[in-house]
Amino acid sequence: MEATIEVTKTAHFDAQNSAMIGFETWSGESENNGSIVRSNGLKKTYDTGRTKVEALKGVSISIKKGEMVAIMGPSGCGKTTLLNTLSGLDSITEGDVMVDGVSLNQLSDNEKTDIRAKKMGFIFQFYNLLPVLEAVENVELPLLLSGVKPKEARKRAEQMLALVGLKGMEHQRPAELSGGQRQRVTIARALVNNPAIVWGDEPTGDLDSNTSQEIMDLLCRLNRENNQTFVIVTHDLNVAKRAHRIITMRNGRVHEELPPGVLPTMEFLEGSMENQ
Ligand SMILES: Nc1ncnc2c1ncn2[C@@H]1O[C@H](COP(=O)(O)OP(=O)(O)O)[C@@H](O)[C@H]1O
Ligand SMILES: [Mg+2]
Repeated sequence: MEATIEVTKTAHFDAQNSAMIGFETWSGESENNGSIVRSNGLKKTYDTGRTKVEALKGVSISIKKGEMVAIMGPSGCGKTTLLNTLSGLDSITEGDVMVDGVSLNQLSDNEKTDIRAKKMGFIFQFYNLLPVLEAVENVELPLLLSGVKPKEARKRAEQMLALVGLKGMEHQRPAELSGGQRQRVTIARALVNNPAIVWGDEPTGDLDSNTSQEIMDLLCRLNRENNQTFVIVTHDLNVAKRAHRIITMRNGRVHEELPPGVLPTMEFLEGSMENQ
């Protein structure tokens, strides 16, 4: 992928449906202690009518521009909810999230969509590729929607696919690709616009360990070279150990912030400590 950064004025489309991402780099971190994403007492309660689930019970974290942070914890502890609320995909019940110095509480849904479109990339399993489109068409779609000329969009999509190891497969449709290859297309699509923040929810979950390692090499390189910020939920210790920092969660709260080189135990991740 080219390291150049393009600037576009408008990119109004729905990131929920299309995992679109944006062009602009981020500037205002200086007045925010260097943090690009920060939450303060973040709470999220799901109210399904009959029951209430307190998925986040007061999470305060700070992520610096250019950091690669892994979020780990037992199933159901609130990791996906944390990514969804930090990125503005889902509403906040209490507390606040600041993204590049802007409080998400003060933004309309359209403004949040706009921030996501311009500044965020999503590598989420539920962001399905469009089945009727070829791999290269899936990857170039966010560029076309942002007004990049078709020829340029095709060139950048092809470069991105080559970068994730899919050279020669540009014209396959998702059904003609393996799970791992599809996930690489999703990653290419999430990163083609050079977003400032990349959110990953188990981005290597469907990949074998070699492919997973290659994808992590790629994400780490982008993090280093483009100073992109990565926040990655993962169960995989091999993925997490590549991060600058690991934040563990337990039962809707931050459990620990682990320094580099320190990994959580399998007992913790499998939740077998919960009953102790
Ligand atoms: N849309 C939802 N409606 C109701 N409860 C939810 C919803 N999404 C998640 N939850 C609940 O919130 C808690 C945290 O879920 P989640 O953030 O998905 O955890 P994790 O990603 O760590 O497995 C769980 O108890 C889960 O059942
Ligand atoms: Mg989850």
